[in-house]
Amino acid sequence: MNLVQEGLALGIPAPDPDAHERPSAARIYRMWFGAEDAVPADQDLARKILNAFPREPAAAKINRSHHLLITETLAARGIAQFLDLGCGYALPRPQGGGDLLFAQNTHDVAQQHWRCATVVYADIDHDVVACQRSLLASAPTASRPTAVLADVTDMAHLLSRLEADGQLTRERPVAVLLHDVLPWIPDDAQAQESVAYLRTWLPPGSALSITHATPDFSPTWVKRVQDVYDDAGIAFRPRDRQSISNLFGDWADLYGGPVRMVPTARHQTRHQFSAVPDYISAAYASVAVKQPTS
Ligand SMILES: C[S@@+](CC[C@H](N)C(=O)[O-])C[C@H]1O[C@@H](n2cnc3c(N)ncnc32)[C@H](O)[C@@H]1O
Repeated sequence: MNLVQEGLALGIPAPDPDAHERPSAARIYRMWFGAEDAVPADQDLARKILNAFPREPAAAKINRSHHLLITETLAARGIAQFLDLGCGYALPRPQGGGDLLFAQNTHDVAQQHWRCATVVYADIDHDVVACQRSLLASAPTASRPTAVLADVTDMAHLLSRLEADGQLTRERPVAVLLHDVLPWIPDDAQAQESVAYLRTWLPPGSALSITHATPDFSPTWVKRVQDVYDDAGIAFRPRDRQSISNLFGDWADLYGGPVRMVPTARHQTRHQFSAVPDYISAAYASVAVKQPTS
């Protein structure tokens, strides 16, 4: 079965043949890290986003640094199964010996702790999944991560498939990374229901890590970005502290107590941008753990 057929079987429509004539938020995110394969429509929208919020590339880098740090933190705490939902493209290696930090992918970090850590990448974008699969093809077979097409709004289908295929087991905790994905799901009820299903499905000891754009620190900048995406026909829904906090149900914070909502650059003390003003993060990061009683 090819990727298009896989998608159709999951209710994910085949990619539009003209998709490259329209901007893609996933490709634009990659541009902030130096990718040079953007199509003119991406470049045009990226320029408009920069006009609306010149710190957008910094916000993306803050998000990605957090992604790598929290993966390391969760692996160091003993979790050896990772589900990277809305994984996005692997990021480009800088030319000419620049900072290799962002060229790391989730499995590069997780497998530093657990050589055979299970890592499943999932995304709704055919091109993202195809690119991840082609990169992963050269990984050692025993620890090779998988990349699957999936719509996080159809969590039941995704999770039952991963379990049936033996890609994840509920016999051990799973770390789920939902980083900068839910803002692309504009329907509040759909976002809440998907994450609630995920929380119920996960075994105790599992962790849920979310980063989510918010207007809370800089309503004007964030509204401007939202308007730019709206004009381009891309739904982008930053949410406030309470709505994001609700995604965690009754789970406890990774560090104990109620779930903390922290500007992304300040969630992990080792974050390289931890001193920047919160409006540059423009997002919250939170990590919660499922208790035996949840
Ligand atoms: C900005 S990228 C985030 C990449 C990565 N998670 C990170 O934090 O660096 C957002 C990704 O979410 C994916 N996405 C958007 N809606 C989705 C959905 N309903 N199901 C699965 N993936 C989705 C997009 O295709 C895109 O690759």
